[in-house]
Amino acid sequence: MTPNDEGLVELDGVRKEFGDVTAVKEVNLAVERGEFFSLVGPSGCGKTTTLRMISGFETPTKGSVYIDDQDMAGVPPDVRDTNLVFQHHALFPHMTVGKNVGYGLKKAGYGESDRQEKAEEYLELVDLDGYADRNPEDLSGGQQQRVALARALVNEPSVLLFDEPLSSLDRKLRKQMQVELRKIHEKTQGAFFYVTHDQEVAMTLSDRLAVMNDGRIEQVGTPEEIYREPASAFVADFIGDTNLFDGTATETSGGAAVEVGNGDGFEFETTKYVADGDVTVSIRPEDFSFATGGGDFEGQVIERYFQGDQTHYVVDPDSDAFSDIRVVMQGRDTPVSQGERAAFGVNDGAPVVFD
Ligand SMILES: Nc1ncnc2c1ncn2[C@@H]1O[C@H](COP(=O)(O)OP(=O)(O)OP(=O)(O)O)[C@@H](O)[C@H]1O
Ligand SMILES: [Mg+2]
Repeated sequence: MTPNDEGLVELDGVRKEFGDVTAVKEVNLAVERGEFFSLVGPSGCGKTTTLRMISGFETPTKGSVYIDDQDMAGVPPDVRDTNLVFQHHALFPHMTVGKNVGYGLKKAGYGESDRQEKAEEYLELVDLDGYADRNPEDLSGGQQQRVALARALVNEPSVLLFDEPLSSLDRKLRKQMQVELRKIHEKTQGAFFYVTHDQEVAMTLSDRLAVMNDGRIEQVGTPEEIYREPASAFVADFIGDTNLFDGTATETSGGAAVEVGNGDGFEFETTKYVADGDVTVSIRPEDFSFATGGGDFEGQVIERYFQGDQTHYVVDPDSDAFSDIRVVMQGRDTPVSQGERAAFGVNDGAPVVFD
């Protein structure tokens, strides 16, 4: 992928109304060839509707969908260079695994033996070589999901669309399938467009992701950009864990001085431009440290969870200006126990400020 590549999938001012309900208000997106792209957002924000407009199962009320620079208006789903993988991947129960995978090739005019050969090739790709003669019902959930994936990949679509494909699997299998999906993506040429409400999955898998909220895209970027430089309080809160504070900003020559918690909290400076007045401040749990003497705030540890490589604390601050603060400390040292008091500092440069 080079920065000059044309978008393989482009959405231009796309909107979708269902009667009185506006499922998608306005979406502008470009997904590059070879990219693993995720669309992530809370339930009901319009992800599936967006995906269905790309695949052609829904028609935009406004705006256009382009695939490989072709306007998709009036192009039916089966003619589009896309395939869709669902959460409930109904395999044909009366067909062998191999026949399931080869099924989509029939329409493309492949003969029986070619279909079989291709099916075996794609079963190998999803690590199921030798499974062609099995029945779907004799496979585990994860294996069935991989058969569904092979079936979607077999006619080599430019764009593979996924709608929460792993959410019916248990946690361990889901983790395993994430790794597999990433590997399979590396072996294929096309773009993967992956829809999920699970921000952790989106962060782990994606080259880039779009965060959607209430029918609109709030931010598009790499997982790192979105985590480090969230564009809004919504994004900061939805992606990863964070603490949000109300604050007041005063413009300075190099940025702003921000006061959190009405004279009873703490202050910091930011180099980002922030207008005078009320702001929201996001501080990630890992952006605090224990302070020896003073610190930015003091409080009592009301909960403590040891998780091996890190320890999570919930702190009840002395200042009434804040609610409980979540703090994560790395490493094996856990110098503060539940019920004890401690002083905390906010790491330099860590707070992100929103107007
Ligand atoms: N065919 C339809 N008719 C009426 N309203 C619809 C239709 N499809 C979706 N909606 C509404 O549009 C909004 C967006 O739905 P959509 O399925 O795109 O959300 P989603 O982000 O995929 O949610 P989830 O994470 O729960 O799957 C919802 O309020 C939903 O109720
Ligand atoms: Mg959905």
